[in-house]
Amino acid sequence: MFDLDEPRATALITGASSGIGAAFARTLARRGYDLVLVARREDRLQALADELQPGRDIRIETLRADLAKPDDLERVTNRIAMGGMNLVVNNAGVGAYGAFAELPLERQLSMIDLNVRALTAVAHAALRSMQERQRGAIINVASTVAFQPGPYMATYAATKSYVLSFTESLHEEARPHNVTVTCLCPGPVHTEFQDIAGFDMEEWPSFMFEPVERVVSEALDAVRARRALVVPGVAPKAAMVGNRLVPRFVPRRIAALLFQPEEDKTA
Ligand SMILES: NC(=O)c1ccc[n+]([C@@H]2O[C@H](COP(=O)([O-])OP(=O)(O)OC[C@H]3O[C@@H](n4cnc5c(N)ncnc54)[C@H](OP(=O)(O)O)[C@@H]3O)[C@@H](O)[C@H]2O)c1
Repeated sequence: MFDLDEPRATALITGASSGIGAAFARTLARRGYDLVLVARREDRLQALADELQPGRDIRIETLRADLAKPDDLERVTNRIAMGGMNLVVNNAGVGAYGAFAELPLERQLSMIDLNVRALTAVAHAALRSMQERQRGAIINVASTVAFQPGPYMATYAATKSYVLSFTESLHEEARPHNVTVTCLCPGPVHTEFQDIAGFDMEEWPSFMFEPVERVVSEALDAVRARRALVVPGVAPKAAMVGNRLVPRFVPRRIAALLFQPEEDKTA
């Protein structure tokens, strides 16, 4: 019934040039998937393809695209609309740390273009094509911040809440068409994400970080089990359950205290 293990299955991964996306590519290549790797840094995509190709009878295609730009986004959705995708991992995303009023507006609007607009367009193209074939799976990557407000990452947290709500809705719509849509909500993972977002997590205890390989394997297990939502790891699961048990202002206030920049504390 389900085709994750079909011979010559194809997966398209956005944001495959580093971090979680690259880890999906490595795992899926080991499992014999043909891959379409999407990101802006083509040299990185090519290096990953060169690493994964030797000794494997799989096809790897690289697709350079800035998903925050409409023309590039259209090239990617057109590629998906050509059909044949068994799995689409809607993973590309960026964050930005700082007070909303202090961060440049352009940076936050471009984040919405990537984290929300592009993710929605990719999901639309994938779902149309998969529903026609009555098979396939989509993983939309959100975050544990999707479950609560995120002071000092307000726009980022809001984009991820969108991804969570959107994905859970699509999960139900897609189910009668034999297509699985799963929301992956990782807690902290060591990737380039923190540096790009301007997040200093050097002092955070290591148990709070989930190994990227575990994030990917739990996500793929969740797809196989046709689940709507997966939160990999024990600490993030505990945090999510804890969030549900306390009044809404509690995690919001804790996050504000935890993330308030030094300069705001003295203001
Ligand atoms: N790391 C964490 O702690 C964490 C926790 C929860 C959720 N997440 C989510 O996980 C996803 C992957 O992040 P990561 O941790 O793997 O971070 P990462 O290492 O920085 O990877 C981000 C990926 O997105 C791509 N990307 C960024 N802007 C893009 C654009 N405009 N067009 C196309 N691709 C773009 C990057 O490639 P190029 O720069 O080459 O374009 C890169 O491949 C994100 O959605 C993030 O929000 C991460």
